[in-house]
Amino acid sequence: MMKGLVLSGGKGTRLRPLTFTTAKQLIPVANKPILGYVLDHISRAGIKDMGVIIALETGEDIRSYVGDGSKWDVNITYILQEPLGLAHAVKTAQEFLGDDNFVMYLGDNLLSERLEKFIKKFNEEELDALLLLKEVENPKQFGVALLNGKGEILKLVEKPKTFISNLALVGVYIFSSRVHEAVERIEPSWRGELEITDTIQEMIHIGCRVKAEILSSWWLDTGKKDDILSANTLILDEYSKTEVKGIIDQKSKVSGRVKLEEDARITNSTIRGPCVIGKNCVIKNSFVGPYTSIGNNSRIINSAVEYCVILENAVVDSIDRLEESLIGRNAKVFKNQKHKTLKLHIGDYSEIEI
Ligand code: DAU
Repeated sequence: MMKGLVLSGGKGTRLRPLTFTTAKQLIPVANKPILGYVLDHISRAGIKDMGVIIALETGEDIRSYVGDGSKWDVNITYILQEPLGLAHAVKTAQEFLGDDNFVMYLGDNLLSERLEKFIKKFNEEELDALLLLKEVENPKQFGVALLNGKGEILKLVEKPKTFISNLALVGVYIFSSRVHEAVERIEPSWRGELEITDTIQEMIHIGCRVKAEILSSWWLDTGKKDDILSANTLILDEYSKTEVKGIIDQKSKVSGRVKLEEDARITNSTIRGPCVIGKNCVIKNSFVGPYTSIGNNSRIINSAVEYCVILENAVVDSIDRLEESLIGRNAKVFKNQKHKTLKLHIGDYSEIEI
């Protein structure tokens, strides 16, 4: 039986300030937490038993979103882990995993290709590890793999300082129980973590059957602001549908694929899809452009926004043009009509580009 192991622990330091109040796996893309897409993806492949790794700080938030897994028709086992590396997460989950094969999925990754064909290959070729790879422009930010002419893995390096390969390890791996043997044999890296790359290298060393597949379509690691915006664009492009539950007045124009949730009100405004506007939002005298997601209870007044992710309860008022921005929960952005100076009240680790 194939199990699932979803990693939703970790620290999320790169997405501060958003991750001061929420787990990075719960940051919404097109108004749905990234973790929701991850669970959709794994459950669609027929996996019923999932272990979910959580950390002390954010574990409760993950639990309250995922619950008992019935939304995805899966059984969930929560596993508390101190964030000491991806291989450490595997080690911590050993009791849950037993001798079963499993798909390990990083909870902040999104990919468009379905998992079934990879699981089929893993089973048919009786592999011990199947890695997914994708060409990237910035290999220094990932684990990378060097392959030989036959597509066999020669070497794996985590966050290489000098160029080795542009094939990054996507945060989805399929393992047999032999991974546990390798985890037991490795030591923490220079950054103090038990690395999954070292583990796989060790699997090769002890004679396990390890193969890689290169993805042909998109994959995103949503670790940073621009990744969230790209993920939002891709998800809106691929999945959004027109669905109008809110109220649009006569003076407003709505075109393209627009999802307007219950009790959202559009007044004297132009909305151009693809975009999603959450429950109870107010959009007044404004332009909401393509690739924008607005969370529940937010208000956009006398403003133009485009290519933005705006979370719940936010206010954007009298802003001529807001683009490529990520606005957190309960945040307010507004123009002071009297003063020409900027007056800021922003949280730690915020970024403002003027
Ligand atoms: O996204 C792909 C990359 O993911 C790979 O190319 C790298 O080889 C792999 O190490 C990983 O790198 P990241 O730097 O992105 O890993 P990060 O620390 O962000 O953790 C990934 C996810 O796993 C994240 O959702 C948090 C969770 N996690 C992380 C650690 C270190 C845990 O649940 N426990 C942990 O101990």
